[in-house]
Amino acid sequence: MKPIPKTTKKAMRIDIITVLPELLESPLNHSIMKRAKEKGLLEVNLISLRDFATDKHHTVDDYQYGGGAGMVMMCEPISSCIEHLKSERTYDEIIYMTPDGETLSQKQLNKFSLLQNIIILCGHYKGIDERIRQLYITKEISIGDYVLSGGELAAAVFTDGVGRLLPGVLNDETSALTDSFQDNLLAPPVYTRPPVFNGLEVPEVLLSGHEKKIQEWRFEQSMERTRQRRPDLLKE
Ligand code: 6GU
Repeated sequence: MKPIPKTTKKAMRIDIITVLPELLESPLNHSIMKRAKEKGLLEVNLISLRDFATDKHHTVDDYQYGGGAGMVMMCEPISSCIEHLKSERTYDEIIYMTPDGETLSQKQLNKFSLLQNIIILCGHYKGIDERIRQLYITKEISIGDYVLSGGELAAAVFTDGVGRLLPGVLNDETSALTDSFQDNLLAPPVYTRPPVFNGLEVPEVLLSGHEKKIQEWRFEQSMERTRQRRPDLLKE
């Protein structure tokens, strides 16, 4: 059967505001992310917050009121950057990456993958002035209960996780439907050649060619793995 001609759907656009654009350059330009961009399904723009600083030193952070160690990202550069972006298009979400945000999950990534335009603001230092959160941020996201030195790597995680879900990015071989977590189960073990390695054999059923039995085996393995490693997922 001939493939159905592709309709011209606009690429999803993710604008990432950061003080360290260089840090995001590489992770978003390889493998599946690269393919998503080349196919015109995803557009990622790295925006240097310093370009929106108002002084000649391109200052974007300042001491915190009340004292204490660590700098805070100032209101004005972030505000002027977001206002500039909003003047060009409407955004579905303005996300702030922060360890005190809601923990990212596959379920959320699925939802975000349906959006058209997203801004991601990467926190740094002690974080951003609280008023920016009040005025602009529509979602606050963390990627887990540990602290990173900035939101950039978390933004890369988010963008990769969303990008690979966009229709047309993955093919049958890389399909997202069989991912861990997609149905609250961990993925089953996988094998490739040779059939015996260091005395360890590939499970016989996988060599049987019996499609139904293979599916059953994979489901049982998924269940067993989830029971052992992530029983919390089965309770949901
Ligand atoms: Cl989004 N940012 C930082 N700085 N640390 C994190 C995080 C985000 N998520 C987990 N740890």
